[in-house]
Amino acid sequence: MPPLFDWRFAADPYPAYAWLREHAPVRKTQLPSGVEAWLVTRYADARQALADPRLSKNPHHHGERGAHGKGKVGIPGERSANLMTHLLNIDPPDHTRLRRLVSKAFTPRRVAAFAPRVRELADGLIDSFATRGEADLIHEYAFPLPIYAICDMLGVPREDQEDFRTWAGMMIHQPGSPRGGVGRAVKRMRGYLAELIHRKRAELARADGRAEAARAEGGDALLSGDLISGLIRASDHGEHLTENEAAAMAFILLFAGFETTVNLIGNGMYALLRHPGQRAVLQQAVAEGDEGLLAGAVEELLRYDGPVELATWRFATRELTVGGQRVREGEPVLVVLAAADRDPAKFTDPDALDLTRQENQHLGYGHGIHYCLGAPLARLEGQTALATLLHRLPDLRLSADPEELRWRGGLIMRGLRRLPVEFTAAD
Ligand code: HEM
Repeated sequence: MPPLFDWRFAADPYPAYAWLREHAPVRKTQLPSGVEAWLVTRYADARQALADPRLSKNPHHHGERGAHGKGKVGIPGERSANLMTHLLNIDPPDHTRLRRLVSKAFTPRRVAAFAPRVRELADGLIDSFATRGEADLIHEYAFPLPIYAICDMLGVPREDQEDFRTWAGMMIHQPGSPRGGVGRAVKRMRGYLAELIHRKRAELARADGRAEAARAEGGDALLSGDLISGLIRASDHGEHLTENEAAAMAFILLFAGFETTVNLIGNGMYALLRHPGQRAVLQQAVAEGDEGLLAGAVEELLRYDGPVELATWRFATRELTVGGQRVREGEPVLVVLAAADRDPAKFTDPDALDLTRQENQHLGYGHGIHYCLGAPLARLEGQTALATLLHRLPDLRLSADPEELRWRGGLIMRGLRRLPVEFTAAD
């Protein structure tokens, strides 16, 4: 079997996944952390496992190890930062309640209204390197764009956003970022958000009368403010998020929406640079304003080489069968989205990048009740970032040997460390 989880694997995991899909589609594997987990690699099994209520998201079902934090499951530093109760760690009925509340604030309408700001961000970042004729697209474009976007959406004041850029850089070990651990960055972000929520809550209480009046006039009070204010105001049958829940929610939106989007833009642009014919199709569509093709293209880039290799942890609450394999109570199950999305039983010619692919029910955003809450924002950012780059820098080309590019392969996420490009410099 080809090696799993070493640096060669991070550069191209697909041969190993093809082997697993064919020979051992549900296989118990030792992860780099020492934890043993079942890897699920076929599309049909993956889709079923993602939606199976017997597979819990709560790490307490991982027996002793999960409960005491020795199994290295979840977000680094989440215990000390008081972050255990977030959407990706809980099951119904708590999950249903929290997801319903956050969905009231994080609406597709709010995301759509944010489109001009994302375009402005993309243009501003390109302006900062356009006259140089070369850039590192990860460091200067894919990395800052999502962090500024989500900070803006949450309502983090612009003057504080550089701190978030630093903390986010620490979390993914960006070159030039201070060393000092993911845990510390997580704690600082969480602490900042808790304080911001506290302040906004007090402001909102003062403005309550005005908000009530706006609601009475038929205005959408949740749309009028930022997302944090929306989270504080959201209510369901009179229930609100507690301050602690709102802080954990704001953090998980940042955490789940940051590195994923960095890698959607980075992996996506890299795939386009390696497939000139496909890139020409997209460039033409962008020039003609064909938004349908652009949307389909970003879905295909996500299927072809998406940022999330493995969905987050699931634990068997009782014995069950996945793909004919018996999984015992307490055992962890990892659904390998990247393998499922290249399954020839589901996709025609799965290893080919086809931006005009019609049948494309990929699992890049997951499936079932934990389906990505931020998918509308991710789509907006991915489409805007790629279209703006192709429009502004039409002769963009890779300026490094692909063999020399290094990939960051955590367990869950996969993306490039650098993406050096060159292009005709703007005057
Ligand atoms: C959940 C992928 C961007 C917020 C998920 C899941 C996947 C995913 C696969 C399900 C995990 C599981 O079932 O274990 C992605 C990808 C993105 C992206 C590929 C970018 C290309 C975002 C953004 C946000 C976000 C921008 C928010 C700002 C969330 C949240 C969940 C989630 C809150 C948990 C939902 C729940 O448990 O109910 N995402 N995501 N994601 N995502 Fe995303």
